[in-house]
Amino acid sequence: MGNHSQHRLIELFAEQKDRVNKYSFDQSSIYFDFSKTHLNDDLLIELSDFAKKQGIEQKIQALFNGDIVNVSEHRAAEHTAERGVGAAASVDNATLLRARMKGLVQAIDAGALGDIAHVIHLGIGGSALGPKMVLEALKIGDEKYETAVVSNIDGTALEPLLERFDAHKTLLFIASKTFTTAETFRNADSVVNWMKQEGVNDPFGKIIALTADPDQAVKWGVDESRILPFSPSVGGRYSIWSSIGASIALTLGFDTFEDLLAGAAEMDRHFKDSPVDQNIPIIAAFTDQYYTQARNCQTRAIFAYDERLKLVPDYLQQLEMESNGKSVTANGDPLEINSSPIVWGGVGTDAQHAVFQLLHQGTHLVPVEFLAVKEPGHSLDIAHHEELLLNCFAQGAALMAGKKSDDLNRNYPGDRPSVTILMEQMDARTLGALIAFYEHRTFANAALMGINPFDQFGVELGKDMARQLSSGEGNQLDASTEQLKIRAFGS
Ligand code: F6P
Repeated sequence: MGNHSQHRLIELFAEQKDRVNKYSFDQSSIYFDFSKTHLNDDLLIELSDFAKKQGIEQKIQALFNGDIVNVSEHRAAEHTAERGVGAAASVDNATLLRARMKGLVQAIDAGALGDIAHVIHLGIGGSALGPKMVLEALKIGDEKYETAVVSNIDGTALEPLLERFDAHKTLLFIASKTFTTAETFRNADSVVNWMKQEGVNDPFGKIIALTADPDQAVKWGVDESRILPFSPSVGGRYSIWSSIGASIALTLGFDTFEDLLAGAAEMDRHFKDSPVDQNIPIIAAFTDQYYTQARNCQTRAIFAYDERLKLVPDYLQQLEMESNGKSVTANGDPLEINSSPIVWGGVGTDAQHAVFQLLHQGTHLVPVEFLAVKEPGHSLDIAHHEELLLNCFAQGAALMAGKKSDDLNRNYPGDRPSVTILMEQMDARTLGALIAFYEHRTFANAALMGINPFDQFGVELGKDMARQLSSGEGNQLDASTEQLKIRAFGS
């Protein structure tokens, strides 16, 4: 890869008149422009050969066949089956479970659980980020239910809702794959107590469990008829398509939820069936690998030039960093290359007045990704949207072109890469395709690096320590942690 890194972006544009056509792709109402990256024909051939040597085609087949791709946990990864693309048995199972979910969601909507105006969705990580991001992106404001997603164990997140919501008209979704996660159940206990204090007769009658462990939900007190299960082979951060999406389905309508799945399925078929050098998630992964490995970039920044997409960077942080932030290969050997870059980002144009200084003139090379939508999300003067999009495009152009000046304060080195992803409109289908694109890009990166993207053992140690701190049992605490505990609690 190193041999091809010498060309500057503007030289690549000068050499290749058809560069934009060659390195941009249309799929599912989304335009992906990779032309402002350092990809060129030689690099593409080299990376395609490398991908084939890494067995990317077989790995993709294995994913969709429902083979054991999560080797450390001896599981398949069945998220694509949730949207109808995968092994027949997995698709059938997902379809059955979805029919059950549809039945319950429609019954709630018809008043089976009483008059509902407020919905609280409790969950954390993959059990919260997806629903929160999709609701933010697609809500119009005139929905029948006011739905809030709460994840943090900090009561400051939950309390204002409990002050505002009517306990008698509140429905509670508890979203937890394992149905054991401490934060979620601290919050769930508080919601149940609040309902009791407000005089709700049967708080458990208003609780719906979204989980891959129905037995655990029954143990916690949820009636079997209000448990919406999903397959344990659907990973937490890939679970938005399963019953974890129930709050989306109830709030925005089941048709909207099915459109989300349909958009993702289109991207699945593209990823499964397209040749390596025309495969959009793989091309994106090529750019990631080039910058992460050949140019040693430690981070990648994502800026949503659309307020509706403001939670996408948060969502992608979990998807990419929890999947590919590993120091071990799928074979159990030490990983000897850089793992996932640190994913960060924000919203344009705000970010232009905060972090773009570093992107333009800092010493770090940060590949940037711009997300934008052609149709505005508001009815104010169209100038808002035109200026928003023009700012987005201008930033990509400026990062690439730079500007020479003898005064180093005013010199912009340029040659800073960016990818622009322009969605035709913000609807469920297009958003579904966008999320699936990122899932497959993450998988393609994992395949290229030889990582298993479907486990997350790295999150366990902190959870254990928190349990130890709370119980006071276990190993002797280090002096610093002991002191913090004394400062906070007095003993
Ligand atoms: O943080 C680790 C993790 O297991 C995530 O992968 C997951 O999305 C989150 O916790 C929540 O887990 P659960 O859905 O089991 O409550």
